[in-house]
Amino acid sequence: MFDFTFHNPTKILFGKDAIPRICEEIPAGARVLMTYGGGSIKRNGVYEQVMHALQGLEVIEYGGIEPNPRYETLMPAVHMVREHGLDFLLAVGGGSVLDGTKFIAVAVHFEGDPWDILEKRAPVHTALPIGAVLTLPGTGSEMNGNAVITRWEKRAKLAFYSPLVYPRFAALDPQTTFSLPPRQTSNGIVDAFVHVMEQYLTYPVNAPLQDRMAEAILLTLIEQAPRVLESPNDYDARANIMWCATMALNGIIGVGMPQDWATHAIGHEITALYDIDHARTLAIVLPGVMQVKRHQKRQKLLQYAERVWGITTGDEESRIDAAIERTRQFFESVGIPTRLSAYGVGAESIPALVAQLKEHGMTALGEHGDITPDVARTILQQCI
Ligand code: NZQ
Ligand code: ZN
Repeated sequence: MFDFTFHNPTKILFGKDAIPRICEEIPAGARVLMTYGGGSIKRNGVYEQVMHALQGLEVIEYGGIEPNPRYETLMPAVHMVREHGLDFLLAVGGGSVLDGTKFIAVAVHFEGDPWDILEKRAPVHTALPIGAVLTLPGTGSEMNGNAVITRWEKRAKLAFYSPLVYPRFAALDPQTTFSLPPRQTSNGIVDAFVHVMEQYLTYPVNAPLQDRMAEAILLTLIEQAPRVLESPNDYDARANIMWCATMALNGIIGVGMPQDWATHAIGHEITALYDIDHARTLAIVLPGVMQVKRHQKRQKLLQYAERVWGITTGDEESRIDAAIERTRQFFESVGIPTRLSAYGVGAESIPALVAQLKEHGMTALGEHGDITPDVARTILQQCI
């Protein structure tokens, strides 16, 4: 196991009364910007619950943060915070609203163009405090310091990390997810699944606790996915999925481990160019990464095959083939196609995607840093 430091400051409020409890977490006298997306919170009752919990505080609303949140949409909110002297941000929605709010938090006091935080990795020294009410489990943004922001005019989708943008608290009420359309439920399940895979499917470093925690999340997602898709109002299934997604990317399962993240890097370029949902890009790319990196990932692939899918017979190559196939089938079983061609994108896309990776400095991906643009091209050829 590698050396590590672990610190996760986010307080989780979980359960049926999570939203009313947020009032205990926001400082008295706070001047709040409440951010949200395209309006789902106004249709499922979450907006009323949040506004009720915020009674007595000064609150300004900022809606319209879109999936794959855009710099162009977020900058007006940054100006609004500056103009009104707001000092607390409350994000209400899915990963896009949370990520967008993290960007607002660091942009407000940033000198110069805040896009530099993403493009030039400019250091971040201050951020406004953030609280979150999560309505779509998947990204893990509610309990991590990551944000992924798109600048549409540049077709760039870039990530930043700062310990300053972990939400102070996150309210997770599984009932808020009853209204999710099946596509978003499935996206969340696949995103969480792939977050685990990025941290698990590398090479062994004798970290059996992290391995078994990762496997537990994968097995739970596989078990709960059909339940939740069949019965969207099944509280327990929703609760289990929600907690799996948070645990998948709050840092715990990845401590002391090599990590991959090539699937995400390549997937982000697919979203930037073709506007395909984040999780769908992962379902397309991961089987390709598993296939092309099967020799470097051999031991973990065999462990995954046995412990997650119960594959114990046949020679090693056929067990690995079967594990890749079962992974693909799982994504397809929740309604997510795993081939780029199923989204109307063909092999002609590959040169542009590889060029984007180069432009964004993504030239040494994976746990060994050996996924060069040429290897990424080979991976993408597997994805068509
Ligand atoms: O905008 P509204 O109207 O709220 O509708 C949203 C949106 O259309 C809807 N939705 C959310 N909660 C709902 C609901 N509809 C009905 N009922 C509810 N309870 O779902 C749609 C998608 O929302 P979005 O927030 O875009 O989805 P998701 O949570 O999958 O977030 C995706 C973004 O997160 C980034 C992705 O790249 C993408 O930009 N990621 C963030 C990460 C992080 N911060 O750690 C890691 C991930 O790997 C990922 O990259
Ligand atoms: Zn993801």
